Amino acid sequence: MNTVKTIKEVRHQVKVWKKEGYSVALVPTMGSLHSGHESLINRAAKENEKVVVSIFVNPIQFGKGEDLDSYPRDLHKDEIVCDSAGADLIFAPKADEMYYKDIEASVSVKELATGLCGAKRPNHFAGVCTVVSKLFNIIPADKAYFGEKDAQQLAIIKRMVRDLNFDIEIIGCPIVREKDGLAKSSRNMYLSSKEREAALILNKSLTKCRDALSNGEKSTKLLKKIIKSEIEKEVLARIDYIEIVDAFSLDVIDIACKPILVAIAIYIGKTRLIDNFIYEA
Ligand code: PAF
Repeated sequence: MNTVKTIKEVRHQVKVWKKEGYSVALVPTMGSLHSGHESLINRAAKENEKVVVSIFVNPIQFGKGEDLDSYPRDLHKDEIVCDSAGADLIFAPKADEMYYKDIEASVSVKELATGLCGAKRPNHFAGVCTVVSKLFNIIPADKAYFGEKDAQQLAIIKRMVRDLNFDIEIIGCPIVREKDGLAKSSRNMYLSSKEREAALILNKSLTKCRDALSNGEKSTKLLKKIIKSEIEKEVLARIDYIEIVDAFSLDVIDIACKPILVAIAIYIGKTRLIDNFIYEA
C-alpha cells in the first residue's frame, strides 16, 4: 500500500487501474481512523478490486470555534489501519493541494442542509459537498463508502450525486458501536472516563425510543419526549437537538408512518456527539 499526497499522483494511479479494468472504491475520511472506518474499508475491499482511502481534515467544513486545530491527526497510525483493512492507496493531501487561495466555486444543497446538524453549523455541509465533489472528480471511483452515523451527510451526498449526475454509487454502511453501545467516533477520544460513561446516554435514549416505536408509538412529539427525559437523567449531558424526520427528505414529521430517521446531538462536557437510527415504520 502506498501513500500519495498530490492530485497528480492519485489521478495517475487510478487512471492506470481503470485502464487495466479494475473496479475502484473510494473511502473518504478525515483520518484518526477507528473500527468504524475499518468496516468501510473492509467492505470496499470486498466489493471492489482497488480501494483508495482519502485522509484529509477538510478546513472548510469546520466553523469558527470548532475543533479544526485540535482534530486528531496521526497519518502513520492511519496507514497501519488502512493497510490491514485492505486499502491499496492513501490520498493524504495538504490543504494547499486541495484548495486554491482564491477558490470561487463550491457545491451545496439547499433544504437538506438546514435542519439537524446544519441548523447550528450553517456552512458545514457546503464544505462537505465541496470536498466530496472534488474527491469524486480527482478519483473517478465506481463506488464511495460512507458511514450511516453521519446520516444527514449521507442523505446530502446521495442527493448531490443524484442531482449533479456524478457517475458513482454511494454505499451507506451501518454504525459500528463499542461493546457497551457507544457509536465509534474520532471525537470519543476527547472524553474523560467519566464523560465516556456519560456518553452511553446517547444509545440508551435511542434504544428507549426504538422500543416505544416497536410498541406502536407513532407520535414524534411523544417519542422525542421519551428521548429527552432519558437524556436529562445524565447530568453531564446537554442536548443540542433531538429530531425525528423523514429518512429521505429530512423533513420534520409529526407521525412516524414511513421510514424515519431519529437523530440526536448531545454535548458531553465540551464534546459534541451524534447518534441515530433509521426505523422503517
Ligand atoms: O465524514 C467525514 O469524515 C467527512 O465529512 C468527509 C466525508 C470525509 C468529508 O470531509
